[in-house]
Amino acid sequence: MRIKNAELLITAGRLDQYPKEGPLEIAFAGRSNVGKSSLINTIVNRKMLARTSAEPGKTQTINFYGINNNEFTFVDLPGYGYARVSRQARSKWAEMIETYFKNRESLVEVILLLDIRHEPGEHDKMMYDWIKDCGFNGIIIATKADKIARGKVQKHISMIQKRLDVEDRNFIVPFSSLKKDNIDGVLEVVETILDINSDYKPDLE
Ligand code: GTP
Ligand code: MG
Repeated sequence: MRIKNAELLITAGRLDQYPKEGPLEIAFAGRSNVGKSSLINTIVNRKMLARTSAEPGKTQTINFYGINNNEFTFVDLPGYGYARVSRQARSKWAEMIETYFKNRESLVEVILLLDIRHEPGEHDKMMYDWIKDCGFNGIIIATKADKIARGKVQKHISMIQKRLDVEDRNFIVPFSSLKKDNIDGVLEVVETILDINSDYKPDLE
């Protein structure tokens, strides 16, 4: 799989702003600051396509990116779980994500990003279970792999697998945006998702 181009289609806060249904869509979910926007930039090889920040809470809308002249779509979701967030902002987040998950016919997979260093928290567990309940496969990308020694990667993958009850450890893919490590592994996952859904035609509105 090769990514030739990528463009921002729209940053959407509401259902009526989503792009037209059609191209298969893969969304990236996870805690704020885990590296969702960075991962999109890294795998499409565009430094500043998705906005990133050292401060959590950068992405606040559902951002749709058309890949390879709209052959398929990547979706950058706002993160959860950072402090200093009002109850109101939290319920807005939940409503936005729920509306997206429930209504988006073209959405074929939600990939959960986790920081490889840490045991998944309560919110990560909830998100993972929700993703599985929605019928997705529960694929995980373990980000910031540059922050641990190479020799510890497998141990950390086991920790994530155990905590979230992941059936197959091959569903957990280590990755580093900083070192551009394992872009191929992520692209392979993307290709597999597109392949297994290639016969699926979303209900066009
Ligand atoms: P929200 O938009 O707040 O939900 O966060 P996000 O998940 O989109 O995170 P973002 O991509 O903005 O990255 C957050 C911070 O982590 C930035 O300072 C990035 O430079 C850093 N970061 C992202 N990926 C990596 C990585 O692989 N390794 C290291 N060391 N830092 C990373
Ligand atoms: Mg972001």
